[in-house]
Amino acid sequence: MIDDVFIDQLVAEARKARASAYAPYSDYRVGAAIATEDGRIFIGCNVENASFGATICAERMAIGAMIVAGASKPIAVAIVTGGSRPGPPCGMCRQVLVEFTRDMPIILVAETGKGDSRRDTTLAEVMPDVFELE
Ligand code: THU
Repeated sequence: MIDDVFIDQLVAEARKARASAYAPYSDYRVGAAIATEDGRIFIGCNVENASFGATICAERMAIGAMIVAGASKPIAVAIVTGGSRPGPPCGMCRQVLVEFTRDMPIILVAETGKGDSRRDTTLAEVMPDVFELE
């Protein structure tokens, strides 16, 4: 199910989500799209706040959308950012992603202004030593 066509669709959804980002302080806009095993896609964008600390990342918003819709098994995530190179999820988002699956493909795309820059990784690669409550 996770073929190249599906990955392209996931990246397109993350790109669309990024267009909604609210990032007046950093001007670093992020869109995320999470695919779940039932074939659905959930999106999120970063929403910044004047307090800075109340900012929510795109990945965690997408996880929230997944949960409120009743889904819980992510199978892939695409993250689209600005900047000159693809941006992997922050530590807090890695911890939240790993709550729902230990491993899945992560497709990172930076819209650099001179075309896309893409890097593929996995959740297990970026989050190898998982904290969990016994
Ligand atoms: N950001 C995300 O949306 N996801 C990440 O994984 C890293 C950081 C956002 C938060 C903030 O709005 C901006 O990027 C700069 O840190």
